Amino acid sequence: MPQKISRAAIFEALDNTVIHGSGSSLMTMKAVKAIDLDEGRVQISIRLQETYKEQETAIQEQLRTTILAIPGVERLDLDFEWEKLPSAIGAEKQNLLPAVKRVVVVGSGKGGVGKSTIAANIACVLARKGHRVGLMDADLYGPSIGMMFGVDAGTGGPQVSSSGAILPLEKYGLKLMSMGFLIDEDQPIIWRGPMLNKALNQFMTEVEWGDLDVLFIDLPPGTGDIQISLIHSANVSGAIIVSTPQDIAFLDAKKAIGMFRAVQVPILGVVENMSSFICPNCGFETPIFGRGGVRGAAKSMNLPFLGEIPIDMQIRTTSDTGTPIAALRPDSPQGRVFSDVAEKIEKALSLSIVKQL
Ligand SMILES: Nc1ncnc2c1ncn2[C@@H]1O[C@H](COP(=O)(O)OP(=O)(O)O)[C@@H](O)[C@H]1O
Ligand SMILES: [Mg+2]
Repeated sequence: MPQKISRAAIFEALDNTVIHGSGSSLMTMKAVKAIDLDEGRVQISIRLQETYKEQETAIQEQLRTTILAIPGVERLDLDFEWEKLPSAIGAEKQNLLPAVKRVVVVGSGKGGVGKSTIAANIACVLARKGHRVGLMDADLYGPSIGMMFGVDAGTGGPQVSSSGAILPLEKYGLKLMSMGFLIDEDQPIIWRGPMLNKALNQFMTEVEWGDLDVLFIDLPPGTGDIQISLIHSANVSGAIIVSTPQDIAFLDAKKAIGMFRAVQVPILGVVENMSSFICPNCGFETPIFGRGGVRGAAKSMNLPFLGEIPIDMQIRTTSDTGTPIAALRPDSPQGRVFSDVAEKIEKALSLSIVKQL
């Protein structure tokens, strides 16, 4: 009778195999697709992003050492599958925004985590500090900058200059551009890739941004070709990653981080949004999803942590009514949270300080 192999011991070996640059193990990255045991033979299928391919030999060696040492294991077969990065990664880079000193993209692996809220509020803080700031909403399917600033196609879209350039809308000292300014919210946007790229190109080439110190680009959710061609169209100084603490293993954020690393965009840092709940009645703070998860994940990946934004009724209502809290009530506790994050970004970008708030 062959000795029964312990599955727990195999899980442990996989959990001890850390992928460098991700700060996580094969288990926590959900990279193990199948484990088959057949008498003394163990077969493991692993699926990882192509970015980690150079670690294949190291992973193999570590797993051979640990798994072949488990009683009953006579043979180990490892099967690797490499998840392709979007094809646009190899495309040529260009700079369609030469008059903008710093382009900062705000990204996340998925939607609804608060990218637009954070981009809008940080942009407001930096504009208040005297920087020349723009905010471009690159989320063509779900534009939200219009709502956050109380402007849309209905309230009078952007004007066209005598030279034919589109003039961005201005609010709180910010220059704003969004698909929501050009089309009615009720019209469905049924476009395909090339048209989307064209619209984003036009946002860069045909909008008169003027000389800006910093332009924030609020990216669409995800990590595909649209995001990459956008990044390739400008000289991007850095990326801000937004994650919520619900994403326990930080998996969605890691996808975004992997993408920015693949296209060599420096990551300015990670913001945790919807961290704790602050009771609107008594101000008591409850960390619904625990504390320090995103901070710890950022640390293990050697990325700066930029701050925690609580889940807060006023942050939502002010956004929904066109007055981001960082502009409306900059000295409120919520406003100050955004000022702290914005100041870290100001430093990371080495923006010359115009004025202290
Ligand atoms: N810290 C927060 N507290 C309360 N509501 C928030 C917070 N951050 C975002 N929201 C709300 O969550 C929703 C999604 O946020 P949004 O910024 O549009 O996300 P994304 O751009 O990532 O899709 C919006 O209704 C927004 O007002
Ligand atoms: Mg958004």
